[in-house]
Amino acid sequence: MLGLIRRDRGMARQTDQRDDLDMNDFETCVSAVCKRIEGRIGQGPAQDEADVIAALNEVIAAELTCISRYRGEFEVASRLHGNEAAAGFAEHIAEEQAHADRVASHVRKLGGVPAQTIPAAAATKSASAPPDGLEELTLEDIRAERMIIAAYEALARWLRPIDETAAQLLDEISVEERDHLYR
Ligand SMILES: [Fe+2]
Ligand SMILES: [Fe+2]
Repeated sequence: MLGLIRRDRGMARQTDQRDDLDMNDFETCVSAVCKRIEGRIGQGPAQDEADVIAALNEVIAAELTCISRYRGEFEVASRLHGNEAAAGFAEHIAEEQAHADRVASHVRKLGGVPAQTIPAAAATKSASAPPDGLEELTLEDIRAERMIIAAYEALARWLRPIDETAAQLLDEISVEERDHLYR
């Protein structure tokens, strides 16, 4: 992401090229998912597999929200910066999809049904003015990724006493999310 910010600096603002992008309020959507995760943790220790499944479905919701966001940014990057920048987003999308798939696989092993759609709010166009340029988009991404990392790390601690495999999975995903802050 930081590479894209550097590339974006010095370019003329091209907000007109982004008007057709579904500019959902990414931070708000991610914040809502993270707050739901915090809410579950705040209710006390995880009790059973139903708790694990519900929590992991929040993780899938977060991942699907990221995928939707980064698909939009892939298009923006492609238009503004060409194939090289867009390739970075394609890689990013693939990693978020892999996260969602790994968590979904664990949900199925527990007998649950993985979440398949992003939260409704994530599909809603933001009421706020669209940000200026890819730089602001990527700064939003970084703030959202930081929220996700904090939520996943807390969730891993919450899940560990009842499901070590799920906790380990979240630890591994959190490490990869940290990488997203610097690309
Ligand atoms: Fe992810
Ligand atoms: Fe990420």
